[in-house]
Amino acid sequence: MINRVSINEGVSAHLDACLAMVRDSDLGRNYFQDEGRLTGIIREGLLKGEIRIACTAENPCAGFIWFTGAGMFYGFPYIRLLAVNPACRSDGIGSFLLQYVEDLLRQRQARKVFLTVAEFNLRAKRLYERLGYGEVALISDLYIAGYAEHVMMKQLDEVPRPTDLLSEIGHAIA
Ligand SMILES: CC(C)(COP(=O)(O)OP(=O)(O)OC[C@H]1O[C@@H](n2cnc3c(N)ncnc32)[C@H](O)[C@@H]1OP(=O)(O)O)[C@@H](O)C(=O)NCCC(=O)NCCS
Repeated sequence: MINRVSINEGVSAHLDACLAMVRDSDLGRNYFQDEGRLTGIIREGLLKGEIRIACTAENPCAGFIWFTGAGMFYGFPYIRLLAVNPACRSDGIGSFLLQYVEDLLRQRQARKVFLTVAEFNLRAKRLYERLGYGEVALISDLYIAGYAEHVMMKQLDEVPRPTDLLSEIGHAIA
């Protein structure tokens, strides 16, 4: 397990390290055979200031996460990409990045967060489930013909049950 991770905003100097992490994965091999397309996509995330980088004592760019504030249904945050340097996987960095973004979103009063994960990416799906994401849809051929995507959602706040709301209203009018 890693001892200390700090998070920085991603800048263009991180581009090559981010590209290498995605390329060296089934995700990169299946979805991003066109190198230029992947470069363009990650560059866009860095320019928009939507990428955060995980730094450890050993590695200044050990992983990254890309999230957009209202990327899902124009109203809910969407985690667009998460990747960890192959040498640093299974050390908790992916979990740390996800929890960091979830905390940030809670501070911004977000109630839900969404992501998609390809059907072949069982390891990533297990990680999301462990952290409380539940499947809300399965979409065939979403990005590439032949691959289905699990759409996953996590509830970030405690939703008051109708009975709690009623007792709150009771207090308010008592
Ligand atoms: C998916 C990915 C981001 C996960 O990152 P990671 O840093 O390896 O993730 P973590 O270390 O936090 O957790 C993964 C594993 O470590 C173990 N682990 C780490 N921290 C743990 C903790 N605190 N408690 C229990 N288990 C822990 C888990 O058991 C998990 O094992 P499993 O995958 O066998 O279930 C990484 O594998 C990756 O970059 N893959 C390629 C890109 C990709 O597919 N991204 C996802 C796109 S949807």
